[in-house]
Order: sequence, then structure tokens, then C-alpha cells
Amino acid sequence: MANNSTRNNFDLKQDYEIRKTLNRDQMIEKLNEWAKGNYEADMKMVGYKGFESVSKAVGDFYTENRENIKVLDVGAGTGWAGMELQKLGFKRMDGVDPSKEMMKVAECRNIYDKYYIEYVDGNRLPIETGMYLYTQVCKYRDRYVPIGMYILLIVSNRLPIDEGSYDCSICAGGFSENLIPTNALFEMTRVVKPGGIVCFCIQDSNLVKVDELRGRFMPLIEQFLSEGVWQEVRRETITDLITGGDGAVMTFKVLISEPTIPQLPGLKK
Ligand SMILES: C[S@@+](CC[C@H](N)C(=O)[O-])C[C@H]1O[C@@H](n2cnc3c(N)ncnc32)[C@H](O)[C@@H]1O
Repeated sequence: MANNSTRNNFDLKQDYEIRKTLNRDQMIEKLNEWAKGNYEADMKMVGYKGFESVSKAVGDFYTENRENIKVLDVGAGTGWAGMELQKLGFKRMDGVDPSKEMMKVAECRNIYDKYYIEYVDGNRLPIETGMYLYTQVCKYRDRYVPIGMYILLIVSNRLPIDEGSYDCSICAGGFSENLIPTNALFEMTRVVKPGGIVCFCIQDSNLVKVDELRGRFMPLIEQFLSEGVWQEVRRETITDLITGGDGAVMTFKVLISEPTIPQLPGLKK
């Protein structure tokens, strides 16, 4: 479980500077360590409320039949957005995040049907194809006795999640320094069926400070709109998305799950 103790020395600005220097594996390792340590306390300390804002926007769109709406929570972390959606009556949720340790915390909360350990970008998200039960045994007086039963998930054939598998994809707090890249918007769109929605929040300053988002994120959104991939549902300004940092929650209806628009070139690290 995450350590929910509070501390008073978390500096988000400094954290961004450290994140900038890390490659993908190092960043995932940092996320794992953060999840095991002070992640939730730190997010509370900076006054993060993206998970509430995104969940509210999704609830505003789906006013009925929420229990049947299939949601993919991208950058699910420890499950805060999923917990909010659950409170609103959503029941069919999967999560995806590259951090195993974030997943472990979310798993204790029993929110997601499936939780994929994957790094989301413009590539197709794979799904697992095998699940096995095995028993752990130990030797006692020359006999093997079972001491535990485990479910082992084998990723033997990494097939992509089918296009249009979900009604809705969300991302709360994931479009930030060295986290989820802009091209993930393609995959968040591909997995949603036409008529479903993509909903996410973003801090205004990240659109300026973060290389991966600056001059890329908003222009791609405008292109999705102008080329009829998405239709705008709502853009809402959120004062203090984190303390002292405004942002927005945006909701778009998917018209075309697999656009022919080329993905953005990757940035050199
Ligand atoms: C600020 S946390 C937000 C977690 C959760 N959505 C919430 O609102 O509480 C950002 C999450 O994005 C995850 N993340 C980072 N890079 C990612 C990627 N490329 N694909 C998917 N998730 C990613 C991190 O592991 C972390 O759990």
C-alpha cells in the first residue's frame, strides 16, 4: 500500500527538472519508487484535483446507464479517478499504467476489471492472452506442501486491444513532464467506439513548459477537430487544478476511431 504519511518538502518544480533528465526506464523506476513512497501524499500536498474534474466531466456526459459504460483509465496510477467514477456509478473500468507499484495500490482498491502494465503512446496497446493458476509449494519433512495459490498472467501473444472496445477513455494528471506523450491521444481515440468520448485534464503551464506538449498537444487537438476525428463536447477551465496552477478539462466525442492523420515525430532525448 502507498505510504500516505504527509511530508512538507515536495517540490513539483524540482521534480520536473529531475524527470527531464530521465530515460523511459528510469522514469518508470522513479514512478515505482514514488508509488511505494510518498506519491499520494505529494499529490495531496500540491492540491491535485484532476481526477475529480475529469470524473465529473465524464459523469456529466453519461447521465444514465453508467453501470454499462466501459471506461479505459489511461495513466490510472493508484486509482483515484477510478474511485471517483465508481462513486458516480460507473462499474466497468480498466486501467493502464507502466508502473507496477501504482497498480499494486490500485488493485487493493478493487476498481478495475483489468489493469494493463503498459506505457501508452501512439502504439497499439497489447492485451494479455493467457492466465494460469499455480501453487507455490515448500518441502516439509520430505514432502511438498502447498503454501499459496497465485494467478499468473502470461503475456504470450501481445494482441492489440480492439479498435472501439471502450465507450470512453480518460486521462487525469498524465499529460505532464515525462509522463504520457501527445501521441497517446491517437490510442485513446482508437480504443473508443464512434459516439464515445475522450476526456482528460491538462495544466495550462504544462502546455508551455513541457517540450513533449508545447506546440504539439493543442495543435493536434485542433487537427482532430478540423478533420472530423473528434467533435468538441466541452472545455472547462479549472481554477487551481493544482494549487496555484489553473488548467482545463476537455471532453471530445469520437467520430473516427482510427484517423489517417500521421502521428507526431518523437522528440530526441
Ligand atoms: C499524476 S499521476 C495521475 C494518476 C491518476 N490518473 C490520478 O488522477 O490520480 C500520472 C500517472 O501516469 C502514469 N504514466 C506515466 N507515463 C505513462 C505512460 N506513458 N502511459 C500511461 N501512464 C503513464 C504514471 O505512472 C502515473 O500513475
